[in-house]
Amino acid sequence: MTEDSGKKLTMVTCSAPVNIAVIKYWGKRDEELILPINSSLSVTLHQDQLKTTTTVACSRSFQEDRIWLNGKEEDITQPRLQSCLREIRRLARKRRSDGEADVDTAGLSHKVHICSVNNFPTAAGLASSAAGYACLVYTLSRVMGVEGELSVVSRQGSGSACRSMYGGFVQWIMGQQGDGKDSLAQQVEPETHWPELRVLVLVVSAERKPVGSTSGMQTSVETSSLLKHRADSVVPARMKEMIEAVHKRDFTAFAELTMKDSNQFHATCLDTYPPIFYLNDVSRRVINLVHRYNRHYRETKVAYTFDAGPNAVIYTLQQNVEEFVQVVKHFFPPETNGEQFLKGLPVAPTTLSEELKQAIGMEPMVKGICYIISTKAGPGPRVVEDPSEHLLGSDGLPKESA
Ligand code: DP6
Repeated sequence: MTEDSGKKLTMVTCSAPVNIAVIKYWGKRDEELILPINSSLSVTLHQDQLKTTTTVACSRSFQEDRIWLNGKEEDITQPRLQSCLREIRRLARKRRSDGEADVDTAGLSHKVHICSVNNFPTAAGLASSAAGYACLVYTLSRVMGVEGELSVVSRQGSGSACRSMYGGFVQWIMGQQGDGKDSLAQQVEPETHWPELRVLVLVVSAERKPVGSTSGMQTSVETSSLLKHRADSVVPARMKEMIEAVHKRDFTAFAELTMKDSNQFHATCLDTYPPIFYLNDVSRRVINLVHRYNRHYRETKVAYTFDAGPNAVIYTLQQNVEEFVQVVKHFFPPETNGEQFLKGLPVAPTTLSEELKQAIGMEPMVKGICYIISTKAGPGPRVVEDPSEHLLGSDGLPKESA
């Protein structure tokens, strides 16, 4: 925390991760509190590759609450932002009235300036709202001296954001209460539990923006009986199996459940009326590629999962990464003059056997995949200690670089 005593400016910067669900959240039972119809489970991705950074400043001199996202001022009156701000301020007030002596109460009556950036292109279509709201809530809590279970607050910004409050393997327990107090995230295992697990984000070229998850899932809840069946009868057992697979580091069980759950989520999208299509031709080719690769080895070595867009997220083990990346490069040859195809953790090139290429037997598709981000499981939100990394200047306005 940086405090400028002259101008009474308090400033904190934090970063938070993206998470990718292996048991999907799709459908709410309460739109305002963001309460889901089923529990879900995700892997928190490493912040070295994908993160949101947020600076919150608070000062007596600020006239109003303001927010800048990726360099542009946005509307602070947006209901979900307001829910998060209101909840953190309420918790801070409660701590003060409960007599928690060390609480910095200065910020409570002051307005805040919020500035947030992603280290990955928003255009890549990766779920940035999860990292964004997790980071907002975490940073606000640090500025206002709030501690305790904060996933119930970030959940009210975006459902999936509650899972970004922890590192490693995280479940969002759906809860039963009407007030949502028991609908929260819990760490199943830390990121250090399964160091061999690796993640490849295949960023697929998409012509247009798909239907957003908020409105998509609303239509699914209204029209899909398959979604009701999934939430009531499929997910409860799958959650148990998935938690068991994670505890035991059983990749085959983890991978098969991940693929089946992604497929069922997209089946509920097709069962929605009118139907919603998130997978495109490239996504379907990736699905085929993964199944053919696994069939060749008679072993489930690689798994895919897709969210509300065409990008594929691949889970595999370290020992398969080099070959599978080479397979992707072979069947989706990159543009030669384009940007770097492989970003993130380094992956050494390798040669593919003719036998493997033939077993997969697909026609290569040029430029289907823009680039790959190679990453792994990582930790939850953290405070950025270096004051030079604040995104707001001492005047409380975004620095040039933010
Ligand atoms: C397909 O969390 O973006 O990524 O709660 O309306 O903000 P809101 O939706 P959001 O939905 C994410 C849906 C998903 C699956 C998942 O992450 O579990």
